[in-house]
Amino acid sequence: MSRYDVLVVGSGLAGLYGALLASRHGSVLVLTKARLEDCNTYYAQGGIAAALASTDSPDIHFRDTMAAGAGLCDPRAVRILVDEGPARVRDLVELGVQFDRVGSQIAFTREGAHSQPRVLHAGGDATGANIESTIVRQVRSSPRVTLLEDHIVCDLVRDSGRVLGVRAIDGKTGQIQEYRAAAVILATGGAGQLFLQTTNPEVATGDGIALAFDAGAEIADMEFVQFHPTALAVPGAPRFLISEAVRGEGGLLRNVKGERFMLNVDPRAELAPRDIVARAIVLEAQRTGHPCCYLDVRHLGTSQFRRRFPTISQVCQEYGIDPGRDLIPVAPAAHYLMGGIRTNVWGETSLAGLYASGECACTGAHGANRLASNSLLETIVFSARIVERLVGGAGAPDTRPSSEGTEPPGLLPDLHLAVPAPRPGPAPVQSIGTLRELTWSLAGLTRDSTGLAKLEAVASAWQAQGLSREDRSSLELWSLTCLARLVALAALRREESRGAHYRSDYPRSDPNWQRRIVMVSEERLGVQGSGQIRASTGRG
Ligand code: SIN
Repeated sequence: MSRYDVLVVGSGLAGLYGALLASRHGSVLVLTKARLEDCNTYYAQGGIAAALASTDSPDIHFRDTMAAGAGLCDPRAVRILVDEGPARVRDLVELGVQFDRVGSQIAFTREGAHSQPRVLHAGGDATGANIESTIVRQVRSSPRVTLLEDHIVCDLVRDSGRVLGVRAIDGKTGQIQEYRAAAVILATGGAGQLFLQTTNPEVATGDGIALAFDAGAEIADMEFVQFHPTALAVPGAPRFLISEAVRGEGGLLRNVKGERFMLNVDPRAELAPRDIVARAIVLEAQRTGHPCCYLDVRHLGTSQFRRRFPTISQVCQEYGIDPGRDLIPVAPAAHYLMGGIRTNVWGETSLAGLYASGECACTGAHGANRLASNSLLETIVFSARIVERLVGGAGAPDTRPSSEGTEPPGLLPDLHLAVPAPRPGPAPVQSIGTLRELTWSLAGLTRDSTGLAKLEAVASAWQAQGLSREDRSSLELWSLTCLARLVALAALRREESRGAHYRSDYPRSDPNWQRRIVMVSEERLGVQGSGQIRASTGRG
């Protein structure tokens, strides 16, 4: 068994930035299931939002974030995000990230639902790759950080509700080893692989959320999955992200007949919030009987487009598309999970010793729909706060999320759901491919009670049959099955439409649902650190 001060699981920006800051105070172990760079951060294109432009302010950023979140943001988390964000972004610059500039000034672009140009980018559309490689360089040269790639965590070690460490499988030898630390930070990223069509890389299988749920942690907002409106829609090709920044630079959406349609849908047109644009694209494709819509950026011309969006340009070229002359076929794809391991504003989960940051965490900053480019910002702001909290020491008061009185101001009390043990039942043969198809068709952009109940029954039956955790691929199926069930249960329960959650059988928002759904495993009730959760399945 090896012991460290801090153990980080995951190697995107949340994990590595947290590891780097923590290494200034003690020893750090980073475990990651593939290579360090295999993470969602690496693929981020649009950029990182922060109120740094002279026309902008944290207050305006606060208002935009709250509006995008459709009434479910925790204003305390949003306030911290927008106020502390600019200093954290400056820290990235000090660490060596070179954001694009116009002359000597940082260049800001606009994305959907931002009232200001406030999105910083690097290498044009290679923002994530630039940030990740800078931070990887820093972490690799830090003597106090131990990096173990190709190690997948299969269990959280715990005692009386406290997380003491993890067990991880070495992908090369298949050996399981235990690692212990005073604090475990889950930074395992999102779960786009839950859906047939996704912009996320293969590693995005929601492992940290499943591990935390299995250990008894509170999981919140799982019904809110963001679908990016514009992923490349070439038959047989992966749904490669076509950044919202392309629409920010004047890109227009057209149907197969070449007609613009967003002006009929929303006054913000192409820059309306993502859920609105994504559903409009699907409806327009259905109306015209064509599998996709098109993004028109011909006004930029080939060389200007290539300069501003080199990565997109190269991928389009691989499919014979020249965005300076041709329309780009696009359709929505799963992109970001707003829900995750519930934390307070210090990244503390409901289990002592366990912290979460980045997409696997649910700070409440995104509410029902994340504002574009707020996700990278969230990783650095809240990873820094976790380290601040850890350095504050054991004497700091317990503010974990399930302590009484922690519900966000302006929201109704949380709805607590105790997730029952899985039930046996008929189900197709277990496979990730089948699960992704089912989740895409039954819990995708448009949901209803029949489809969600079916998805929940399949996931529950698979869990009841037993899912192994003996190697990476079985563990990923175990994680995704757990997440499919949590998404289905939460989406079934929320009988309204709000933000990214759209129910065809409840197409309107309901003020009685201005509350968050918090789930915990019924089997683990009573083992939680603060044990405040109520085993209620009522409407709160
Ligand atoms: C994009 O570039 O469109 C994605 C940015 C984000 O998801 O925040």
